[in-house]
Amino acid sequence: MPFPGEGREIFEEHRMHVTLTEAAQLLSKGKVVVFPTETVYGLGACADNPRAVETIYEVKRRPRDNPLICHFYSVVQIERYGIVLTSVAQALFSEFSPGPLSLLLDLPPNSPLAPATGGRPTIICRIPNHPVALDLLHLVDVPIAAPSANTSGRMSGTQLDMIEHDLGGRVAGYLDGGAAVIGIESTIVDARRNDQISILRPGVIGKPELTMVLLEALKEGKISALPTIVERAEAETPTPGTRYAHYAPRTVLMGRESNEWGNEKDSVLAYIATDEWLRERGVEPGFGPIQHAGVWYLALGSRHDLLNIARRLYYALYQLDQLALPKACFIAEEWGQTSVGRALHDRIQKILAAH
Ligand code: TXA
Ligand code: MG
Repeated sequence: MPFPGEGREIFEEHRMHVTLTEAAQLLSKGKVVVFPTETVYGLGACADNPRAVETIYEVKRRPRDNPLICHFYSVVQIERYGIVLTSVAQALFSEFSPGPLSLLLDLPPNSPLAPATGGRPTIICRIPNHPVALDLLHLVDVPIAAPSANTSGRMSGTQLDMIEHDLGGRVAGYLDGGAAVIGIESTIVDARRNDQISILRPGVIGKPELTMVLLEALKEGKISALPTIVERAEAETPTPGTRYAHYAPRTVLMGRESNEWGNEKDSVLAYIATDEWLRERGVEPGFGPIQHAGVWYLALGSRHDLLNIARRLYYALYQLDQLALPKACFIAEEWGQTSVGRALHDRIQKILAAH
């Protein structure tokens, strides 16, 4: 019997909301389900099922050479698949899991998880810090391969309405877990070696946080030396995903510095900016688009609370798209050198480079 919501049009999308048990059943039957994590929603399928994994690529319209992160409920489950954690990986996961850290590790030959990695000898493992995701992983009891829940190239989905708008009837079910609390994707670290680790994708956990934890592990004798931490230039990363355009709204976005006031002559129809920037222009920020003197404004939150900006970034771009304007202006600021500031800088650069 087909699942009730399958193949329905987008206006009936509410029919595709599923319970935790239904989501687990759908996944076990080889279906693709949207599920919550603390970073962004995932578009999940059982990692050991080649046809289910293939469906992720179809739903997401993702290039086939771009492998998928695998989600586990514990380090013990990772090890059950014969994946060996370096002592550095052990130390990082013992502090940051469950959490927004994904580790690139060696995958043994002939692994049942090969469908998710496209036959690569490596796998990216993540233990999400979201109660619904962890319950789902326990129920299914097979690692879930999941890219971010969005059509390839678009913003990662952080709330269900945004994702339903993007993916509609292309998935078998949507499992709600509220708005993602972090809002940008996990940090990816290559942890295959004990003498050197590389940050392949910046996130809210960055070099200072990794260093602190590794220093502690060194003191406790859990690792024998402190590895060098490399922050790789995008071009030399072995994550294929970085080759593709990312995080693009439909609306064409121009970037502008916060100190450039711009002039109304260039007929900007919408600005997306921090609360402070809006206030400087006499606009009181809120959630959602605000119209003021014929121009739309979208508030990202305070420039003094970057975690909140990360949480709102993709959804604000979705709200901008809802206005269906041809063009808008993104006011980029100095986000600073904290890990979240650097991660925001990375995502915003890519957003602005996407068109
Ligand atoms: O926060 C996150 O990490 C979210 C949630 C859903 O967990 N997932 C996510 O997945 O952002 P995705 O597919 O959008 O990004 C995964 C990145 C891609 O750039 C991909 O190329 C890379 O990880 N990747 C996955 N497996 C890999 C592997 N075995 N070797 C190298 N790169 C890999
Ligand atoms: Mg993605």
